[in-house]
Amino acid sequence: MEKSTNMTVVEKLNQLLINYQVHYQNLRLFHWNVKGPFFFVLHDKFEELYRDAAEKIDEVAERVLALGGTPKGSLKNIVSNADVESHEEQMEANEMVNSIISANKKLIENLNGVLTTAEEAGDEGTLDIFTSYIQELEKQNWMFKAYLK
Ligand SMILES: [Fe+2]
Repeated sequence: MEKSTNMTVVEKLNQLLINYQVHYQNLRLFHWNVKGPFFFVLHDKFEELYRDAAEKIDEVAERVLALGGTPKGSLKNIVSNADVESHEEQMEANEMVNSIISANKKLIENLNGVLTTAEEAGDEGTLDIFTSYIQELEKQNWMFKAYLK
């Protein structure tokens, strides 16, 4: 594998990592602050999602390390480079769900970038790990859209 293409995969993974960390923090906020008639459902669902996000964040970071990069995780770096929006404490339950749908779309975009560069680099390991992430996020979005109907 070319060193330079390897680093392109690392850059794409790091952007995914940064966005995932903002998404994770939003999910925790939503878990804590959700109110309304669907409290019990959403409070549990948001916890399930942040636990899953925490595992994925770890997997992304460790793939960066396996490729010889440095995983981006300082708050400074996250705040200045994220393109998933960091949310306020108080939001309506439906706004929370809509914001998760948007964040998932952004993560899917990042993942498509990861897969494209990994394919160009012949990086089978990265392709193997992250293809299923897209399917999972698409499934989440279908379910959240069904919830909002
Ligand atoms: Fe909790």
